[in-house]
Amino acid sequence: MLREVVVHPTSQALFEGAAQRFLALASASLERQGRFRVALAGGSTPKGLYSCLAGAAFPWERIDWFWGDERMVPPEHPDSNFGMAFQALLSRVPVDHQRVHRVETERPDPAGRYETTLRDVFGEPCPRFDLILLGLGTDGHTASLFPGSTALDERDRLVASTLVPGLGERITLTLPVLNHAASVMFLVSGREKREALRAVLHPEPRVPPRPAGLVTAPRLWMVDEAAI
Ligand code: 6PG
Repeated sequence: MLREVVVHPTSQALFEGAAQRFLALASASLERQGRFRVALAGGSTPKGLYSCLAGAAFPWERIDWFWGDERMVPPEHPDSNFGMAFQALLSRVPVDHQRVHRVETERPDPAGRYETTLRDVFGEPCPRFDLILLGLGTDGHTASLFPGSTALDERDRLVASTLVPGLGERITLTLPVLNHAASVMFLVSGREKREALRAVLHPEPRVPPRPAGLVTAPRLWMVDEAAI
């Protein structure tokens, strides 16, 4: 499967379907290789998925948790992607806290530090995530790779720090990492995403692709009817 699009009637059906896929992928990965390394998405859409997952029985302690991007705020800040996932999921299931690898935004050089963590945990030049969860912005951004950002051109670094006009500093996985993933799952809900989703799923010739359209890893688009 290089690209699959699954349309769900409602956002709740999307979250439930995504939770089933997440658990199936995690189970298969633990069975096959004794590990499951996942990068969580930020923003608001994934919160519904994380809440669904929190109700499932699973060997949560065997999962290594990462983030696809992070805002440059403290972990307890309402805008923190770590904080959102912690509140919706990681504080509600028995994870191994040694396996929770957040971006340490309160320490110096968070991007460099996170990159070192990736290299240490994965033990390879470019980490191959078993699953990367991603969202889609109304402008077609994903993670913190925004249209026109120099981070889109990064081919050597695993993690970039990028200043997003109007949003501030962000820390993000770069495209080489996203495209080295064994699988990617996009979560897209709501009418406001319709234009961006169409532009990514049906790109026009000679029109520069949106950042999410540059993700070429095997990918599953979980979308609701409002967004398609
Ligand atoms: C972030 C996310 C970002 C998000 C999209 C969609 O840190 O905000 O990484 O890429 O997925 O902006 O956000 P919503 O799910 O809130 O619409």
